[in-house]
Amino acid sequence: VSLKDLNTFGVAANTKYLCEITNLQDIEALFEWRSKHNLPALLLGGGSNLLFKNDFEGLIAKVCLSGKDIAEEDDEAVYVSAAGGENWHEFVRWTIDKGFAGLENLSLIPGCVGAAPIQNIGAYGVELSNTLHSLQAVNLDNGDILEFDNELCKFGYRESFFKSQALDKLLITSVTFRLPKKPEWHINYAGLREALEGEVLTADVISQAVISERQRKLPDPAQIGNAGSFFKNPVLKVSEFESLKSEHGELPGFPQNHNHEVKTSAGWLIDQCGWKGHRVGDAGVSDKHALVLVNHGNATGTELWQIAEDIIASVEDKFGITLEPEPRVIK
Ligand code: EPU
Repeated sequence: VSLKDLNTFGVAANTKYLCEITNLQDIEALFEWRSKHNLPALLLGGGSNLLFKNDFEGLIAKVCLSGKDIAEEDDEAVYVSAAGGENWHEFVRWTIDKGFAGLENLSLIPGCVGAAPIQNIGAYGVELSNTLHSLQAVNLDNGDILEFDNELCKFGYRESFFKSQALDKLLITSVTFRLPKKPEWHINYAGLREALEGEVLTADVISQAVISERQRKLPDPAQIGNAGSFFKNPVLKVSEFESLKSEHGELPGFPQNHNHEVKTSAGWLIDQCGWKGHRVGDAGVSDKHALVLVNHGNATGTELWQIAEDIIASVEDKFGITLEPEPRVIK
């Protein structure tokens, strides 16, 4: 079965088996399939954060669980829940249309609700972990239904328990967010601050500014295949950062972890190595943003990965920093 329409890179890899998970019975069937077959089973959401290098010799289970509602409300906050297969951006817009705030900075991120906690999606100074209250998941090894509070998710920068220890083992069925009634705006990110100058702030106004900023800076997967940022921004020790900065005065740096570390921009490092707009056949680097690999049409996963490896080598050579892929790379 072709996966071309199931990954936003638009890579034409095939999978041996494909199924859709739309209800609890489907989860049970998946659980049984896994126990009977000695083949990998991969859980797929929106397909917006992975690269298939080759064909997949197993089962791809696309999570299509749907539903969203206001779960609870107290004096300070509302709690909203969405099923794992709900489209992330539509869910964000739904909360904003209901008058709730807290998810506006995460507008227009591709993918679905159940995949969002796995890599702790983040943009414009906000991460999912800021508002995630709890989530439910099914353990596909034994069928248990589990509840995770925020702490149990072990969130970090593009990191979580689900990514580091439970990939394809836990199927996230629903996620609940705590959205404070007294909103706290995060508008200090360069680009966003300027766009909002003089505006009366609301979740909707911020969401619209984020949408314009993303549309301006990032290639649209509907028009050109991509998976957003292809590398994580490197987090350096202060001393490492300072010594690089003394050689490269323009090196961007954002203090992290109570000033113990500095996050720098992978996009800047890659740009400095001259990769922006680079193209080999149909595989390339976006001419809008050096951090985004693009498929101009018929690039294979292997061709895209080759460019990624060449980028890693050249950044290592020039700056001594080893970039790590941000999307999931399926061997
Ligand atoms: N830059 C360049 N050249 C480029 C692109 C960027 O020099 O071609 C430099 C600029 O100095 C710019 C800085 O890099 O100011 C940062 O760029 P940008 O604001 O676009 O953010 P980013 O660090 O590249 C991160 C996330 C994005 C998220 C944006 C906005 C990661 C890996 N990426 O990108 O997330 O949308 O911030 O908050 O953390 C994603 O994860 O797929 C994603 C798109």
